[in-house]
Amino acid sequence: MIIATTIAEVRAQVAEWKRQGLTVGLVPTMGYLHEGHASLIDKAVSMCDKVVASVFVNPTQFGPGEDLETYPRDFKRDCALLTEHGCDMVFHPEVSEMYYEDAATFVEILSDMPKQLCGKTRPIHFRGVCTVVSKLFNIVTPDKAFFGQKDAQQLAIIRRMVRDMAYGIEIVGCPIVREADGLAKSSRNTYLSEEERKAALILSQSIKLAEQLLADGERDADKIVEAMTKKIETEPLAKIDYVSAVDGVTMATVHDVQTPTLFAIAVYIGKTRLIDNTIFE
Ligand code: PAF
Repeated sequence: MIIATTIAEVRAQVAEWKRQGLTVGLVPTMGYLHEGHASLIDKAVSMCDKVVASVFVNPTQFGPGEDLETYPRDFKRDCALLTEHGCDMVFHPEVSEMYYEDAATFVEILSDMPKQLCGKTRPIHFRGVCTVVSKLFNIVTPDKAFFGQKDAQQLAIIRRMVRDMAYGIEIVGCPIVREADGLAKSSRNTYLSEEERKAALILSQSIKLAEQLLADGERDADKIVEAMTKKIETEPLAKIDYVSAVDGVTMATVHDVQTPTLFAIAVYIGKTRLIDNTIFE
C-alpha cells in the first residue's frame, strides 16, 4: 500500500490510475480504524479498481472543548488494517498540508439540515465535515466515495452537498457494523470504562426497541421516540442529548413514520457521547 502525505503525491498516483482507465474509490476516515471502517474498505474494493483511504483527524469539525487533542490515533495499526483489506493508497496529511494558516473558505449547507440532531450541540461540525470532504474530493477525484450509515446525518449532508455542487461522485452508504452484543462500532468506544461499556448497550437496545415497534406496525413517530427515551432513561449512566425521528433525506422532524424515517439518538455515557440510529425505508 502506498502511503502518501502530500496532495501532490495523491494527485500524481490517481492521474496515473486514471490514465490506465481504472476507477477510484475514496474512503474518508479519521483513523483509529475498526471493523466498521474495514467494511467500507471491503465495499470500495468490491466496487472500484483502486481504493484510497484518508486518515486525517480534521480539526475544523471539532468545536471548542471537544476531543480533538485526545481523539485516538494509531497510524501503524490503521495501515495494517488497510493493507489487510486491500486498500491501495492511504492519504495521511499533516494539518498544514490540508489547511493554509490563513484558509478562509468553507463549504456549508445553508438549510436546517446541519442544525438538526448533532448540529444542535455541535454547531460548526458539519461545516468542517463538508469542507474537508469537499477538499478530499478535489484531491482524490474519486468515482465513488464510501460513508457509514452510523453517521446518518453526515451521510445525508454529503449526499446533498454532492448534489448541490454537481460533484459527479457516487456516494455509497454502508450499514452500521456492531459488536456481538449490539454496540455500534466507534473509535470513541475506546473512551468507555468497563462499567460504561456495559451501560452503552442501552443505545442499541433502544434502537432495537424502535425496530420492534416499527415491525409491529407502529407508525406514530412520537410514540416510538417516547418509548426509546423511556428505555434510555432506565440506564443511570446515560444522559440523553437527543432522541429524534426525522425525514431520512432532509433531517426535518417528523411525527408520523413515512419512508425514509430516521430514528437517531445521541447519548452521553459518562463523558463519552455516542450515536446510533435505524432507518425505516
Ligand atoms: O466520519 C468521519 O470519520 C469524518 O467525519 C470524515 C467523513 C472522515 C471527515 O473528517
